[in-house]
Amino acid sequence: MLSRTLCLAARPSGKLATIHLELQEIPLAPLLDGDVLVKNTWLSVDPSIRLRLGESAPSGYLPPLSVGEALVGLALGTVVESRHENFRPGDLVSHMNGYRDYATVSATAGGLGGAGTLTKIDAGDWPHQWFLGPLGSSGLTAYVGLFEVMNIRPSDTVWISAAAGAVGSTATQLAVHHGCTVIASAGSRLKADHLVDALGASRSFDYHDGDMDSLLAQAAPHGIDAYFDNVGGSHFPAALNALRPEGRVAMCGAISTYETSNTLPSNLFQITAKSLSIRGFRAGSFGHLYDRMRSIVGSRLADGTMIYEESVYDGLELASTALVDLLNGRTSGKTLCRL
Ligand SMILES: NC(=O)c1ccc[n+]([C@@H]2O[C@H](COP(=O)([O-])OP(=O)(O)OC[C@H]3O[C@@H](n4cnc5c(N)ncnc54)[C@H](OP(=O)(O)O)[C@@H]3O)[C@@H](O)[C@H]2O)c1
Repeated sequence: MLSRTLCLAARPSGKLATIHLELQEIPLAPLLDGDVLVKNTWLSVDPSIRLRLGESAPSGYLPPLSVGEALVGLALGTVVESRHENFRPGDLVSHMNGYRDYATVSATAGGLGGAGTLTKIDAGDWPHQWFLGPLGSSGLTAYVGLFEVMNIRPSDTVWISAAAGAVGSTATQLAVHHGCTVIASAGSRLKADHLVDALGASRSFDYHDGDMDSLLAQAAPHGIDAYFDNVGGSHFPAALNALRPEGRVAMCGAISTYETSNTLPSNLFQITAKSLSIRGFRAGSFGHLYDRMRSIVGSRLADGTMIYEESVYDGLELASTALVDLLNGRTSGKTLCRL
């Protein structure tokens, strides 16, 4: 059996374009004991795959894909055939073999530190795709960054970058509901206004509107206590300058560096001078917190005190456009491809 699959056609040297990716008909791996055949229904479009499309990936991360190799990413699908006792045809599952119509998935292989392991989802009355967004990996990432990594307090002033995206929009609302003063930044005036008007941030800015130190000083004249970093690049050194003593940073991602080279900030001594705590994390290592996160985020989504927004692309043929649009800030909320 063949499955349409999005593959790396040529390595981008700089900005990813749709010509770097192509759909191919690829034979599915035969179903062995322990495997499950899944018909994919929703693909999570995530920035991190960009790290694997160049010549080299950051050491310690997943290796670069070869030219011709299939892209991978979180996906939801329905089990069509199962050779594992825990899965039955008709089950809704999440797994890592996205970017294709059908996938042969091993029930025992992990991915992304456990987040991509084949998992049965009991969606109840929730729209399925929310288990890739606020009730899935994006929600867990936001929850972990705020409460496990930075241990935010209601009195904190918290800056969240890429705040109109999947992780950022969930983190913004969770921090607002916790009582924090939230400074939210994004890549357009429209997004910045939305962060205040719809998501409850206290103040917001478009990071194109000036130098980062001034924008942050205007939004948070007394400094910040915590910074949820989705962006890296020029955002991180600005945060170091704005953080108050004992401030905390959750290094979640660095999207501004995924398509360019990265240089170290010249003000790293701020970390020592102000006794800052800087901690990176991968949400996949916190899978044990899914139930807790889902009960908190789920109850807020149910009572309407939290909103969920998505940018949906229809058809696998638009998956490459979805990824390029995401990397260029043309999407907001959770970016998904519906098959
Ligand atoms: N640590 C983990 O376990 C984990 C898990 C998931 C995601 N992440 C990371 O979290 C971050 C957000 O991921 P997401 O899935 O929620 O994606 P997302 O925020 O929905 O989409 C990425 C956003 O980044 C912004 N962006 C792109 N280039 C930028 C630049 N040069 N400077 C500033 N902003 C830029 C764009 O919005 P604008 O219009 O605002 O520019 C874009 O919408 C990424 O860095 C990702 O790698 C980490």
